[in-house]
Amino acid sequence: MDFLIDSCMIKCTRFLLLSLCFLSSFCLNSTLGAEVRHFKWEVKYMRWSPDGVEAEVIGINGQFPGPTIQARAGDTIHVELTNKLHDEGVVIHWHGIRQAGTPWADGTASISQCPIKPGKTFVYRFEVDKAGTYFYHGHYGMQRSAGLYGSLIVDVAEGGKEPFHYDGEFNILLSDWWHKSSREQELDLSSKPTRWIGEPQTLLINGRGQYNCSLAAHFSNSSANHCNLSGGNEQYAPQILHVHPNKTYRLRIASSTSLSSLNLAIGNHKLVVVEADGNYLQPFSVDNIDIQSGDSYSILVTTNQDPSQNYWISVSVRGREPKTPQGLTVLNYHPTSISKLPLSPPPVAPKWDDHDYSKTFLNKILALVGSPKPPTKSNRRIVLLNTQNFIDGYTKWSVNNISLVLPETPYLGSIKHGLSNAFDGKPPPENFKQDYDVMKPASNKNSTYGSGVYYLKLNTTVDVILQNANAIQENVSEIHPWHLHGHDFWVLGYGEGKFVEKDEEKFNLKNPPLRSTAVIFPYGWTAIRFVADNPGAWAFHCHIEPHLHMGMGVIFAEDIHRVQNIPSDALACGLTGKMATNNVQT
Ligand code: C2O
Ligand code: CU
Repeated sequence: MDFLIDSCMIKCTRFLLLSLCFLSSFCLNSTLGAEVRHFKWEVKYMRWSPDGVEAEVIGINGQFPGPTIQARAGDTIHVELTNKLHDEGVVIHWHGIRQAGTPWADGTASISQCPIKPGKTFVYRFEVDKAGTYFYHGHYGMQRSAGLYGSLIVDVAEGGKEPFHYDGEFNILLSDWWHKSSREQELDLSSKPTRWIGEPQTLLINGRGQYNCSLAAHFSNSSANHCNLSGGNEQYAPQILHVHPNKTYRLRIASSTSLSSLNLAIGNHKLVVVEADGNYLQPFSVDNIDIQSGDSYSILVTTNQDPSQNYWISVSVRGREPKTPQGLTVLNYHPTSISKLPLSPPPVAPKWDDHDYSKTFLNKILALVGSPKPPTKSNRRIVLLNTQNFIDGYTKWSVNNISLVLPETPYLGSIKHGLSNAFDGKPPPENFKQDYDVMKPASNKNSTYGSGVYYLKLNTTVDVILQNANAIQENVSEIHPWHLHGHDFWVLGYGEGKFVEKDEEKFNLKNPPLRSTAVIFPYGWTAIRFVADNPGAWAFHCHIEPHLHMGMGVIFAEDIHRVQNIPSDALACGLTGKMATNNVQT
């Protein structure tokens, strides 16, 4: 069985180092102060068996998932990324990191930079200013679905303290996996008529899952289709969480799923939720947690159960009718043998379409006392209607009836340099027709492509109302987790049906949580507020990979003329690319 590094070990080593460092003031500085953390990464396709079935995955330095970045608040991350894919560009987005002052390092193709060409290297350099649980992933085409992701953990600055105690920690990065390659999925989605990717074959925990074999059978030595985990070094062997009795562990959980909304539970154990998307929460205790794609949470688990037993950790699909088996691993109490099968079966998730259950969970999420509060008024309100449409025989997702197509020239460069013909000059609508019936399929199912941007004035307070609606088919409305780049936002509230003016009275302005992903439920709306205080070109989109690919997103352009020092290799494509070559020639 594969071991997760016990964080106590890390802490002890750090303590040792610190003690040694007190002998030299130079060393003391570099240990106590903020550091620059250097990484050299090569991105490459490789053969891998995430779930026991060999596949083509995008790995980093030969690893899947990519290496975990561990840093402290205030550190600078310096990643030299070399693209070793043969015929595709690549970029990496640092999900949840606000990129204050470095919008060109956000890693979004066509938005903050050009895709890094095969054989080329690009340097991401940015500060991680806030402790929390984050992750990174590809943001070009559907490369996230090909396995291009990893964890990014930011601890409190040296000498700082978390507002809760724990004895050890584990990282849990969740994802969903298809046997059809992401390139084929892309092809299917852009076929006419559009072919849907279907449900995933396997759920992965830290890149590991079991397809067509039973982990339970493996543990019980029963003959029934058990997983062939002989040495425990198999790429699909689960990572067991080894714990000691009567301790508290922090589980840092993030979801990089392409499609699935998930629910995580640990048999017999309570989960105390303390952090979401890098922001502290008023702690609350639950039996299981819902995790949308793009969400991250920290939960505290106290090992107060019978130490002579082991317990299942289960991950299940929510929000869509599940066709995928649970993802499983084991919480193993010391000194119980890991080969001992948990007494009770894996926890069963709430019913997939019990959205009230999810809402009850989300309504418990409130900012920790002392967290930044939202401005009491907003300067602007943008209402975004989410619909499913047809364009020219293709199925698309649209926002205010515009389906986003990304231009060749990245917005950051084209706006900074005033290249007006790089994308649609006309900003998209701020609202939709008030007679639109969100409970029914659109009467006009046709939509149009667009690449316009919403210009945001510096330091204005912006409200966005995400309005869900019926999809193309009658009686279908889906869940969409929306993620904002470059900012955290306050989640002011959720509601049913069409948002109306007086819903504003129900906004939570007292202790709304700060987050960077918020979900809209079927036929409902979600209100968020943020301050446009970070000049740059920022994506705001549904975090479901195929939905974004089908146009479900918008772009915010925030005082881009103030952005300085955009590296020229971020702009070496499209019109800005031509501009650069012209400059060289003159
Ligand atoms: Cu994690 Cu634009 O996404
Ligand atoms: Cu979506």
